[in-house]
Amino acid sequence: MPNRKVRVVVNGYGVIGKRIADAVAVQDDMELAGVADIVSDWRIKVAVEKGYPVFASTPQAADQMRAAGIPLAGNLDELIGKVDVVADATPKKVAAANFEKYKAAGVKSIFQGGEKHSLTGHSFVAQANYETALGRDATRVVSCNTTSIVRTLGALMNAGLLKKARGVLIRRATDPWESDHGGVMNTVVPETVIPSHQGPDAQTVIPDLDVMTIAVVAAHTTSHLHAWNVELTRPASKDEVLTAFRAAPRIAFLQASEGMVALNSTLELMADLGRPRGDMWEVGLWEDSLTVVGNELFYNYQVYNQAIVVPETIDAIRALAGVERSGAASIAKTDQAMGLQREFVARVSAVASDRP
Ligand SMILES: NC(=O)c1ccc[n+]([C@@H]2O[C@H](COP(=O)([O-])OP(=O)(O)OC[C@H]3O[C@@H](n4cnc5c(N)ncnc54)[C@H](O)[C@@H]3O)[C@@H](O)[C@H]2O)c1
Repeated sequence: MPNRKVRVVVNGYGVIGKRIADAVAVQDDMELAGVADIVSDWRIKVAVEKGYPVFASTPQAADQMRAAGIPLAGNLDELIGKVDVVADATPKKVAAANFEKYKAAGVKSIFQGGEKHSLTGHSFVAQANYETALGRDATRVVSCNTTSIVRTLGALMNAGLLKKARGVLIRRATDPWESDHGGVMNTVVPETVIPSHQGPDAQTVIPDLDVMTIAVVAAHTTSHLHAWNVELTRPASKDEVLTAFRAAPRIAFLQASEGMVALNSTLELMADLGRPRGDMWEVGLWEDSLTVVGNELFYNYQVYNQAIVVPETIDAIRALAGVERSGAASIAKTDQAMGLQREFVARVSAVASDRP
């Protein structure tokens, strides 16, 4: 690609799409050519307020959007021939149907975890397989839970510590903005199939992972919680395990001793840090409760489902466009632009040791 910014359109300006749009807008090697959707209420009007060019995803939607006073920059069909990459964040099945349109227009495309691996034949988590996506026409950024599994188990694998992993996933009932639509209340619903799809899905990125997952849906909206039991290749110390996690990107450490004791306290912390929408892009892994007994490792982490896949999507854009050959370099660039962290606040012990 010539030495110019990668032009990106985001199709589907919902929970994931609006975050991708904001993340594209802060990359110095990308240009947000526009966002597209079919709705005409407050959700898309925010994009207008932000100054993003807004497109109608379908001709039928265009009339309604214009009637609602949305100043359309045009129809998506006219735009896709003029951009390098479409980041599709439309709902399940809609996205799969769009793929044919993107292929016909000769534009590269990225899908999200609601789609199957078979749609594009490639599933993406930057730290695991960025280089295999270079120059491809399409990929799928795996789901929030799967992304977290690949980040953490991939880290243990890279350190030569992973034999097999067994995880229980306590999933949020629904996204906060959809709480009026539905979601379980006052119960916990075990998924009826074991393994839940996330374990096998992680194997679409790292085929030789020995992983099993059990998922349950709980009655909260504040993100997912994972509980893992990992058999290590050998007895190891807690420090060795933490070093392995620290060597991988996009894992941040939560300290219960600092009051980060539950999903809600982390989210309050993200909001207090002034993060956009209170997002946590990192896997939030509890450091103080992480325990190793011989060759067995136990830990919990939090997956902020609404945001964790966003930095991965930015890297996927760079990989498909072929503007950065190194996954590590792309990750560093994305994380710098978005403001990812390792530690959210200074540790008590570190502060105390500075005092006379
Ligand atoms: N919500 C999450 O926590 C989460 C996390 C990771 C991955 N994902 C995946 O991301 C994808 C999008 O999920 P979401 O939660 O953002 O959904 P969402 O419902 O919040 O957003 C989808 C958007 O697409 C729009 N849309 C519907 N039909 C359209 C069409 N024909 N053309 C263009 N736009 C259309 C909707 O109006 C909405 O704004 C799915 O594959 C999902 O599985 C979601």
